[in-house]
Parts: sequence; C-alpha cells; structure tokens
Amino acid sequence: MKFKARHTFFILSVLFLIYTISIYLEPYNLNNNSAKTKNIINGKLVWQKYNCQSCHQLYGLGGYLGPDLTNLMSQQNKGEPLLKAMIKSGNKQMPAFNLSDLEMEELISFLKAADNSGSADPRKFRSNSFGMIEKE
Ligand code: HEC
Repeated sequence: MKFKARHTFFILSVLFLIYTISIYLEPYNLNNNSAKTKNIINGKLVWQKYNCQSCHQLYGLGGYLGPDLTNLMSQQNKGEPLLKAMIKSGNKQMPAFNLSDLEMEELISFLKAADNSGSADPRKFRSNSFGMIEKE
C-alpha cells in the first residue's frame, strides 16, 4: 500500500488528539507532591505576586532595572543574607517588600531551585549611576 499524505495527516491528527487530551487530564506534572516541591511552587507564586520579574531576570529574561537572580543563591557574599536584607530594607533603587516568614521561606526555595537548574548568562553586569545595568 502506498503511504499517502492523508495517512500522515490522519496519524498526526490522532497523535495531536492524544497529546491534547493528556495535557488537559494532567495540566501540570505535580506527581512529586513533597513538601519541598510545594515550597518551590509557592515560592514561584511569591515571585509573581510581588512582581520581582518586572525588574529582575531569571535566565536573562525579565526586567532590566535590577540584576539577574538565577544564580543569586550560590553567588559569593550574596545568597540568603542579601536576599533578606534587600527585601526587608530595599535600597534607593529597589523598594522594600513586606513578606511573611512563610513567603520568605518559599521564595528562598524557589530561588534555590532556579539556581540548581543551571547558570544564567555568564557575562557580568554592573549598575551605573542611573540605576541601569550594563555589561562589564
Ligand atoms: C522596582 C524594581 C524592583 C523590584 C520590583 C524588585 N527589585 Fe530587587 N532590585 C532592584 C534593583 C534596581 C536592584 C539593584 C540595586 C543595587 O544594586 O543597588 C535590586 C537588587 C536586588 C537584589 C540584590 C541582587 C544583587 O546581586 O546584588 C536582590 C536579592 C533582589 N533585588 C531581590 C528582589 C526580589 C526577591 C524581588 C521581589 C520580591 C525584587 N527584588 C523586586 C529593583 C527591583
């Protein structure tokens, strides 16, 4: 039997349907329901709630007022202490945020997971006197 275009079309349509149905049945792979995973997921919601992304990047994507925070947690002299200080007090370029202890814990889990997922742009940036970041 000759393999015709309509066979290809039919097979692709069936695969598309199966894939679509599977996505609707399980929209997000939350099989790993450990407390740690929940913390990370909630931490992402904290990140979104306070709109950190509007000024910061993860993997180079986001706002460009503040630095990329993908690898904040493992950066020397940064990590948790700097995160807590910036959130609590802010500085002249970044507003302070009033996070609950739980939100802070979840945000830390999220940023640790982001850090463990790989490294962001290896280039270095610094902020200039206008508060914009530029390449070093
Ligand atoms: C209005 C913009 C803005 C928002 C919103 C914002 N930040 Fe910032 N953030 C900045 C700027 C600008 C800096 C750089 C300040 C400096 O270098 O003096 C900064 C610095 C930081 C730093 C220090 C990073 C480093 O490498 O020195 C951390 C950590 C941080 N922000 C976390 C957060 C988190 C978490 C949120 C969300 C809860 C957030 N920021 C929301 C503007 C913002």
